Amino acid sequence: MQLAPIVAIIRLIIGIYITTRKSTSSLPLPPGPKPLPIIGNLHQAPKSHSWRTYHEWSKRYGPIIHVNILGQPVIILSTSEAAHDLLAIRGATFSDRPYLFLATDLAMKGLSILFMNYNDQFRQHQRVQISVFNATSSAAYLPFQILESQQLMHDLLRAVASTIHTLLYGFRVKDSNDPMLRALVDLNTEFSEFVRVGAHIVDLFPVLNNLPGFLAPWQAKAENHFTTKCKLRNESFRRAVESDAWNISKHHFKQNTEGNSLGMPLDELVFEIGTTIDAALDATTDSLIWFVVACITQDRGFVVRARKELDAVVGRDRLPSPDDRPNLPYIAAIVEEIFRWRPAAPEAAPHANREATTYNGYIIPRGSIVVPNVWAISREEAVFGSDPDDFIPDRWLDEDGKTLKPFPPAVFGYGRRTCPGRYFARNTIWIVVARLLWSFDIKAGLSEETGESIPVDPEACTYGLIMRALPFKASFQPRGPWVRDVITRDGDTYSKDHAAMLNKVGGDFMKL
Ligand code: HEM
Repeated sequence: MQLAPIVAIIRLIIGIYITTRKSTSSLPLPPGPKPLPIIGNLHQAPKSHSWRTYHEWSKRYGPIIHVNILGQPVIILSTSEAAHDLLAIRGATFSDRPYLFLATDLAMKGLSILFMNYNDQFRQHQRVQISVFNATSSAAYLPFQILESQQLMHDLLRAVASTIHTLLYGFRVKDSNDPMLRALVDLNTEFSEFVRVGAHIVDLFPVLNNLPGFLAPWQAKAENHFTTKCKLRNESFRRAVESDAWNISKHHFKQNTEGNSLGMPLDELVFEIGTTIDAALDATTDSLIWFVVACITQDRGFVVRARKELDAVVGRDRLPSPDDRPNLPYIAAIVEEIFRWRPAAPEAAPHANREATTYNGYIIPRGSIVVPNVWAISREEAVFGSDPDDFIPDRWLDEDGKTLKPFPPAVFGYGRRTCPGRYFARNTIWIVVARLLWSFDIKAGLSEETGESIPVDPEACTYGLIMRALPFKASFQPRGPWVRDVITRDGDTYSKDHAAMLNKVGGDFMKL
């Protein structure tokens, strides 16, 4: 007997029950758009760029909104205070993830840290990340951020991919058309679509996965996603372990086999390391591309001020380096403003709460999907001042012009699920932004037919887990003859002894 239809009907009845029942708590749910019976707010759920709709709703309903999608409570948080109070301070309750059947079970077979619940398996995977990407070890990897940002002037995506592949697998990505890199980008785009909350019927009714393949087209897509990912990950891991040079895969592999201090099944470790590549690639590259969009579309006063600082501190006969960082506060302010103005993950990643709880007089039902709307949080005028839609790095600096204001961080998420790659990401973005500003005048690209600048729309972007600027044309003109001199004098980075650099970084890392 086929159980699937029966289970589907039971799930639907439970859904109807949940949507129509009165809350057992004496406290009300947070406010939100008026739901309909059974479907709740399904008809009002945004089809794209949800963070913008949620931002509008927050102006009408306040900082904590409740939405009901076929019985599933969704809580949207639109202030730093609410996001921090719930997701960080009450981390013991709010560190699970919603159950997204398609992305988690079908496409990742439960192996991706991003959508694991906060349990022992998650903590084991988090150790894999934190042990190699904490603040101290991130500082040890700076030589590769320096090297790749020098090569970067040729290609942003390749440079970001190459830095992370070097550290994790011991090899560089030398060509932006490398088929492996293209496959990674395509898979990330597909995954970003898989994790859209509420977009896939099978997440609401996992039982539908029992339907035959022609009625459940997501099955083949997810299976293909998983097998392609595994193939890429296994191949890169094999290269890493066989390489002569130090790399993070080798480090974890040794720990896992010799010391057994990780105690993780090998296939799970291989997968986790691949997840790091995925997580590192998109958000970092996209933040850098948003910086280019800011240079083209926003008031260029910030470029003038940054160059003045760079000329005074660095001069014109070398590229900026991490040692200059304490003396370049305006560059730090630009980096923070990129994260605020265009947070690469505008809704971070959803959390879920394992217990019902109350907040500010509202009940938050157990198992709610809790979305920190980083987009809205980054636009809180009470925190960041007026004109939140404009790119104004100055808002980050104290009156002395040197100290960064301690605005609450949002772009890397919250509490126990905060991005473990944040130190590494900040280092990459800092050096690339500093070197781009030092080297180039970044402007809109020119039309081949008319020779006129092609306007760039700063709002045009994709939607999904990651917010990516739609393709546009940009022109990078060296600021002056000294730029070419310095870049050519430092030589082609491919002539550097990469294995020796890795072994040196590995040696430094092991001493930490
Ligand atoms: C600008 C670059 C980056 C941004 C904006 C970013 C942002 C985020 C956000 C918002 C989350 C979810 C946090 C939450 O649930 O509260 C996250 C998770 C994660 N990030 Fe990043 N990230 C970036 C770069 C990186 C890098 C470079 C790495 C690795 C080296 C990395 C590895 C991860 C991992 C493994 C997770 C999953 C953590 C978990 O579920 O507990 N990220 N990131």
